[in-house]
Amino acid sequence: MKRVCIVGSGYVGLVTGSCLSDLGNKVICVDNDKEKIASLRQLKMPIYEPGLEEIVRRNTARGRLEFTTDLKGSVGRSEIIFIAVGTPPKENGEADLSFVESVSKEIAESMKDYHLIVEKSTVPVQTGLRMKETIQDNVNKGVEFDIASNPEFLREGSAVDDFMKPDRIVIGVETEKAKQILTELYQPLEVPIIVTDIQSAELIKHASNSFLATKISFINALSIICELTGADIKMVAKGMGMDKRIGHFFLDAGLGFGGFCFPKDLAAFIRISERLGYNFELLKAVEKINRMQKERFIKKIEEVLWNLKGKTIGILGLSFKPNTDDIRFAPSIDIIEGLLKGGAKIKAYDPYAMDKMSKVLPDITYCKDAYEVACASDALVIVTEWSEFKEINLEKIKKLLNNPIIIDGRNIYDIDKMKELGFKYISIGRKTGGVTGASFSDL
Ligand code: UDX
Repeated sequence: MKRVCIVGSGYVGLVTGSCLSDLGNKVICVDNDKEKIASLRQLKMPIYEPGLEEIVRRNTARGRLEFTTDLKGSVGRSEIIFIAVGTPPKENGEADLSFVESVSKEIAESMKDYHLIVEKSTVPVQTGLRMKETIQDNVNKGVEFDIASNPEFLREGSAVDDFMKPDRIVIGVETEKAKQILTELYQPLEVPIIVTDIQSAELIKHASNSFLATKISFINALSIICELTGADIKMVAKGMGMDKRIGHFFLDAGLGFGGFCFPKDLAAFIRISERLGYNFELLKAVEKINRMQKERFIKKIEEVLWNLKGKTIGILGLSFKPNTDDIRFAPSIDIIEGLLKGGAKIKAYDPYAMDKMSKVLPDITYCKDAYEVACASDALVIVTEWSEFKEINLEKIKKLLNNPIIIDGRNIYDIDKMKELGFKYISIGRKTGGVTGASFSDL
């Protein structure tokens, strides 16, 4: 059993702290947001993640998990300190490390004996070394410490599962002692633990996210070739994915990646590379393809409706992906803003994300379900692939729409079925081609 302090009870810190307490450790989650700590103490979750509330309840009841704003006192009661504070993007896309720095200083000033300080936030490579200097400059005389990097690979909507059943644990350390502490901490998970230096551990995180984003942009670029040749991107992805070296995951063509990780981490990695003296052209192309995919989609909608001015467009799905209410960097925002700019009126529905979206896009009409969205709309547009949209009564939808037009940004419907139902069905990279990319045989 280890005594752990998690600094930053946001998305990563709260999931990490709760799951570590569930493994039998004594965990204190610290945050400087008084409201957040107060609601956590009342067992009210600031984020929705399947399984999280139950784990928090179970372990607070057992006295193994507590929440506080008192960082100083928590440092004195722990041996391992995880820094899980935010690293939001600066104007130029670089990661803002000011919270990491201020927290490192505060931890150093609070330490009276040996501690292992672990970077959990996604930070630029070489941040660990800067963290070490900051601690060295502020630690009390004679107090020893080690630092480590332990990046997370949690996906929104499956974060608890991803913590409890990871493909691997990555730890970057400088001493045997740090290695031993972290391998013992993660031993109960019984998964492969890769032990390396701090810089390599930091790079594994950036490289993993960037590679996953690259896979998505690759399949999205390929979807354009499919539209121009009459090929089917789902079949192409299936055929590619059967090669074990490629794999099936992250080959779903659609509206591209959003969320608070891929866009931010990609931009940060490009800036880090530039500062190190390397121009990461490949990742710049990944970013560009991701941006273009949304622009092309707006064009598809405009072309199938002939023009946007005065048209009413129904949008299904606002969150950046299903099973979350998170709208940060969601494709829906750029797409709706583009349609509004073209003079369209927007109706929208999302099972979870409408509260958050109404603060960002107050001038659109929010509906109670997909049918209200379809009622008297000139077209229905699928932006997020919530499973409930796959179950809707399409005959009913057709009667409600002014025109039987569905433009599907996530390829959730079957082309033949849509033809049978009499829809003009436009999707991504499939035989319907989509008005912009007329299939080869039409040329
Ligand atoms: C991601 C990484 O997967 C995770 O390891 C990291 O720790 C945090 O960032 P997350 O952003 O929560 O997780 O969601 P993810 O499921 O990876 O999807 C990211 C985006 O890619 C979503 O917008 C999703 O719609 C999109 N996506 C994903 C595709 O467009 N196609 C795919 O095949 C897969």
